[in-house]
Amino acid sequence: MAKISFNLNGEDVTVDADPGTPLLWILREELDLTGPKYSCGIAVCGACAIHINGEATPSCITPMSLVEGRKITTIEGLSQDNDHPLQQAWTEEQVPQCGYCQSGMIMFAASLLNKNKKPSREEIDEGMNRVLCRCGTYLRVRKAIEKVIRENG
Ligand code: FES
Ligand code: FES
Repeated sequence: MAKISFNLNGEDVTVDADPGTPLLWILREELDLTGPKYSCGIAVCGACAIHINGEATPSCITPMSLVEGRKITTIEGLSQDNDHPLQQAWTEEQVPQCGYCQSGMIMFAASLLNKNKKPSREEIDEGMNRVLCRCGTYLRVRKAIEKVIRENG
């Protein structure tokens, strides 16, 4: 076990963890942040996505040893009152179905718009293709992102 310190959703935290433990386990089991979801466990589905220094990253394969000193943001820390433009557009466009993948979807979308305020449709599809949705919400995801670009771009 080791003491690992990082910034989580704007607050400095220190946890006791095995450096090889995936960040997702610590977030969900130790820190009660259950927005990031476990699904594939091998960086294929995107359900566990969080931001590390602003970049969308699968937390299921991120060992705690890589978290020291980093800025970690989960869906819970993306906005104060679920009022990030993407979260509002997700509600207005009724994007989610079962919802399981949606935290990962929004974190990837936020990372995409952080890097590129006006991505093309092709760039949106390319940026979002790391998240799998078995409910097939892809078209509504794209529609919500394009709404944010139109209204805030
Ligand atoms: S659970 Fe992490 S990418 Fe699927
Ligand atoms: S909304 Fe059900 S898996 Fe995406």
